Amino acid sequence: MKTSEQWFSYFSNNLQISRINWNQQPGATKAEIDPILPSLQAWQLGETSDGSNLIKAAKRYAAQTGDLFYVKAVELFIKEEQKHGANLGRYLDMIEKPRLTYNWGDALFRKIRHLNTSMEWWTITVITVECAAQIFYQSLKDATGCNLLKEICTDILIDEAPHIQFQQERLRTIFMRKSGISKLFCFYWYKYFYLLTAQVIWMAHKNLFKAGNNHYAAYNKKMKLKFSKTIGRLKTTIHANGQYQNKPSPSLNGN
Ligand SMILES: [Fe+2]
Ligand SMILES: [Fe+2]
Repeated sequence: MKTSEQWFSYFSNNLQISRINWNQQPGATKAEIDPILPSLQAWQLGETSDGSNLIKAAKRYAAQTGDLFYVKAVELFIKEEQKHGANLGRYLDMIEKPRLTYNWGDALFRKIRHLNTSMEWWTITVITVECAAQIFYQSLKDATGCNLLKEICTDILIDEAPHIQFQQERLRTIFMRKSGISKLFCFYWYKYFYLLTAQVIWMAHKNLFKAGNNHYAAYNKKMKLKFSKTIGRLKTTIHANGQYQNKPSPSLNGN
């Protein structure tokens, strides 16, 4: 488990690394782009959030716990998400497709984020969306023959595994402070929120998932596997007597 200082240092270094050759021309065909464009546009919009509500929640949490450096790490985490939005936007500009200013899924997610002032629920929401993002960007990468778009996806996928680890470590810290019965109750809340949100994301972006050969059964299987590698690990710490057990988390990489 990394400290907030270590996460700040990781994000600072990672933000300096450029993995995309912008000198190449986009090569996606119309047949490739047409079915996936609405999802590409919606995720581009989603990745451009200013993160102000998350920063507010992080500041409140940092003041309560004394982990003041956590806010700086969260600020760089948001910057990395904005980099994804900027790269996807630049690609849309290059293929002469418009950037969206409104999408129902994005509006719904922004509303939830606006109402959400708890670091715990922020963390659960972000882990859920990041798990789906890994399948989303792998699907996008597999759905296109365009090398530039593949490089954009690879860059995002490289960033996403540490994002999940960053949030998972925070969730574990928050979860470990709960009593046994409260842990049990919260675990099942997390689980049903995750599973329900996974279905909403499927409904909104199934054309893109399918274009990348992730049909419904494959998508669900991957989301459940990701749950077991992330939030699901918390279950091993719940004991009827309220005592805790620490086990190392498995790798968060891959699908
Ligand atoms: Fe992202
Ligand atoms: Fe992310």
